[in-house]
Amino acid sequence: MTTSGFDVRPNAHPTDAAIRDEILGNSGFGRYFSDHMAHIRWTADKGWHGHEVRPYGPLTLDPATAVLHYAQEIFEGIKAYRHADGSVWTFRPEKNAARFRASARRLALPELGDHDFIGSLEALVAQDDAWVPTPASAAEETSLYLRPFMIASEKFLGVRPSKEVDYYVIASPAAAYFKGGVKPVSIWLSSNYKRAAPGGTGYAKCGGNYAASLAAQKEAEAHGCAQVAFLDAVENKWVEELGGMNLFFVYRDGRIVTPKLTGTILEGVTRDSIMQLARDEGLTPEERHISIDEWRDGAASGEIQEVFACGTAAVVTPIGELVSDDERIRLVDGGGEIGKRLRTQLLDLQYGRREDTHGWLTRLA
Ligand code: COI
Repeated sequence: MTTSGFDVRPNAHPTDAAIRDEILGNSGFGRYFSDHMAHIRWTADKGWHGHEVRPYGPLTLDPATAVLHYAQEIFEGIKAYRHADGSVWTFRPEKNAARFRASARRLALPELGDHDFIGSLEALVAQDDAWVPTPASAAEETSLYLRPFMIASEKFLGVRPSKEVDYYVIASPAAAYFKGGVKPVSIWLSSNYKRAAPGGTGYAKCGGNYAASLAAQKEAEAHGCAQVAFLDAVENKWVEELGGMNLFFVYRDGRIVTPKLTGTILEGVTRDSIMQLARDEGLTPEERHISIDEWRDGAASGEIQEVFACGTAAVVTPIGELVSDDERIRLVDGGGEIGKRLRTQLLDLQYGRREDTHGWLTRLA
């Protein structure tokens, strides 16, 4: 059996339908996985080959596999949304595919074309369609989170790009990323750690960036915060991003500002979409440097009305306060009307409740 060039090996022991439905009703984020995974292998001599969808399950890796030692790995995050008519769609997959290639170039991994990237999502969702939740109402943001990733799988301890690479896509039913749902979160401002430096891997979606954020994330949790915010590594002054999300600042006069991409910030697909939706709303999105002093002063004067985080997993999440060793910067309006509106517009578009005027949706099943 094949789906868009992928050989399909169905899982002989899929999850019982009643158990699956129970999971879909209370999935949380990233805790459960569907019955299959997509896989493509790459070797220096053959290129990409062996396209397959096979039962989800553990990988067998030699202890000397390169990725386990030097972290030559990249990933993506993208969701599949069930529309009211039962069809399943994804959002701007060509943007994720392009970013995956940019990450691959930075991590000296082979580049995967749009056809294989989007084909792997289609092939997996065709097999695991039943794992795409049906939202009970417009207030519910359940989806199937797809996690494409690529690892250096050569058994070799020399430090050089791997000559063998494996690409997989796994799928996990997802509800709101933060435990409390869409409520304003507290953010910890890291002063001990930096996430990225010029010339480093900040713009790439590689596991190493997230590993580097974890000590700061632990500090955040110890201070009762849900995420950590990083400043730039050179001047310790410019706001960059959170551990796994981009940032937006909403000004009283309708400007909405997000830190400019300078190679140290992830080029978020949600970030780009929010800028377009803001433009559609008559707001003025700006990409520029924003300093921690501007955040502090703007919050104190009321010039900055809202701050929100955005990402595939987080969608749009309001930020209630920024906490550091010596201060707490509270936002005038932690609830965030503009963020809420942009969030609703984005979700309405993704779930097919609003016309897709930008041609952002691709049908998967
Ligand atoms: C995503 O939003 O898809 C990410 O990869 C970020 C991570 C915090 C889950």
